[in-house]
Amino acid sequence: MPISSARTVKGSRRLLRRHDRRSHSPRWQFLRGFFKHPVMVGSIIPSSRLLIDRMLRPVDWENTKLFVEYGPGVGTFTRPILARMGKDAVLVTIDTNSDFTSYLRESIDDDRLVPVTGSAADVAKILSDRGLGQADYILSGLPFSTLPPGVGEDIANATSTVIRGGGAFLVYQFSPKVLDFIKPHFERVERGFEWVNVPPATLFWAYREPTE
Ligand SMILES: C[S@@+](CC[C@H](N)C(=O)[O-])C[C@H]1O[C@@H](n2cnc3c(N)ncnc32)[C@H](O)[C@@H]1O
Repeated sequence: MPISSARTVKGSRRLLRRHDRRSHSPRWQFLRGFFKHPVMVGSIIPSSRLLIDRMLRPVDWENTKLFVEYGPGVGTFTRPILARMGKDAVLVTIDTNSDFTSYLRESIDDDRLVPVTGSAADVAKILSDRGLGQADYILSGLPFSTLPPGVGEDIANATSTVIRGGGAFLVYQFSPKVLDFIKPHFERVERGFEWVNVPPATLFWAYREPTE
């Protein structure tokens, strides 16, 4: 083979390898998910490190046995949650997009992770089908303001029935409208704001009163 065509073959193999590496990266998977279901994904860029740290800061990890994450996407929060969770705790992720569920299953090798394809509105059935009790914390990355009518209310209602007394619903949103959904179901709601995120996000920590 002449030297120039050998170089071309090598070059195109390199390009293919680079494309293959990129197509497995979380950022690429997230973009693919966005272009397939823009309304359901709701954002073009995964959450920032600062947003993640701030959102998870109040969590009492020592007393967390069951954590649920709605709308994990490519696992931007999933990995930091697993890194903080105890070794006997369980993390259930629920996403309507089966591509994201498969991606989490394939890219995260951790027995504590239970990735589920489904709607957050069905959280009670998803947990009871797996013999899991009440959740200590539920985190939501759902785009509440673009969900179909009625779905936001159903999710907030279902969430309040599965969080134990003393547990909390953690929500980050680009529109503060989500407060209308969560306020009727939780005794105390704390609020924050994170500028370092695209776009900047409002954070809510909605607590259930501890039961005696
Ligand atoms: C903005 S993305 C959040 C991604 C990731 N958690 C982050 O912070 O970068 C929203 C995710 O919610 C999922 N989703 C939308 N509606 C849902 C529903 N009803 N139940 C569960 N997941 C849903 C989408 O498929 C998408 O993965």
